[in-house]
Amino acid sequence: MKALQARQLSKTYRKAKRPALDGLDLEIDSGQIFTMLGRNGAGKTTFLRIASTQLLPSSGSVTVLGLDAIRDAKQLRERIAITPQEAETIYPLTPRDHILLNLRMRGMEKKEAMERAEQALKDLELTEVADTNSDWLSGGLKQRVIVAMALRTDAELIFLDEPSIGLDPLNRRKVWDQLTRLKESGKTIVLTTHYMDEAEALSDNLVIINKGKVMAEGTPQSVKVAVTKRTTRVDVQDKFTGNELGRYGHVVEIAGRFRVLTDAEAAKSLGDEALARGASISISPVTLDDVFVDIVGEAERGEEREG
Ligand SMILES: Nc1ncnc2c1ncn2[C@@H]1O[C@H](COP(=O)(O)OP(=O)(O)O)[C@@H](O)[C@H]1O
Ligand SMILES: [Mg+2]
Repeated sequence: MKALQARQLSKTYRKAKRPALDGLDLEIDSGQIFTMLGRNGAGKTTFLRIASTQLLPSSGSVTVLGLDAIRDAKQLRERIAITPQEAETIYPLTPRDHILLNLRMRGMEKKEAMERAEQALKDLELTEVADTNSDWLSGGLKQRVIVAMALRTDAELIFLDEPSIGLDPLNRRKVWDQLTRLKESGKTIVLTTHYMDEAEALSDNLVIINKGKVMAEGTPQSVKVAVTKRTTRVDVQDKFTGNELGRYGHVVEIAGRFRVLTDAEAAKSLGDEALARGASISISPVTLDDVFVDIVGEAERGEEREG
């Protein structure tokens, strides 16, 4: 079953020069973790706000859990949960208050809400600070409180806008574990991120969006392989110029060093040439990060050429 379908979804904010969403088409199957990957300003938050009934599109449609996000907004709100980007905790409330109040406001009966709040505190290891004034918590703890608010609701679909922003690597993994647990319990997770490793580790399917348009979509693996045809990356330490490397593949300069995105065969011949020259290189499979730089970077260079 489809959990979400967007058709030609566009949004131009008042007075904006270009659209934030530009004819976006998207389908999300239920029961999976779906990631929207894109740079700052790509349109991720705009999409999430429209799909979660907080913002109206300029045109197009979006259906969530079989309900029209505009016409059936009220009904839909009861069946989804949202973790907004950079949400703030509320001054005198504790982490437990935040989670409990959210469950109660969703109409959950008191006893069940209390049990679930305890569970959500445990999920993200917040039990120790459960009764601390939230304002005294570090940024990373506040962010975990915000995510914990969505973990034990009865929502069928959960939108998370950059859920791991500001979290250290260990805490990010705690959030990932919980999102995976939610999926395994049958829920659909739609999240945005600009962390490639997060998208790669978590997603069943993902889209790369840029300037409000879908640039690539599929499983992390299929996006990596099918979209670029460049399956292999070669990091070159020394003894080559960018020009020389250009005939082996697509050259990206990273911190003064060259990386060549290419196929296995060209990587081998570059390897031979490097050995002959006594140069150091390393060869590895491409990551989603490489693909992202390739696709989005290519689109932006194209635009520069167009002027
Ligand atoms: N309330 C707003 N008013 C005007 N422009 C906005 C508003 N919110 C976002 N934008 C613009 O829309 C584009 C997409 O923004 P956003 O959806 O927040 O992207 P992302 O979440 O991918 O960073 C950006 O160019 C941004 O500046
Ligand atoms: Mg955003």
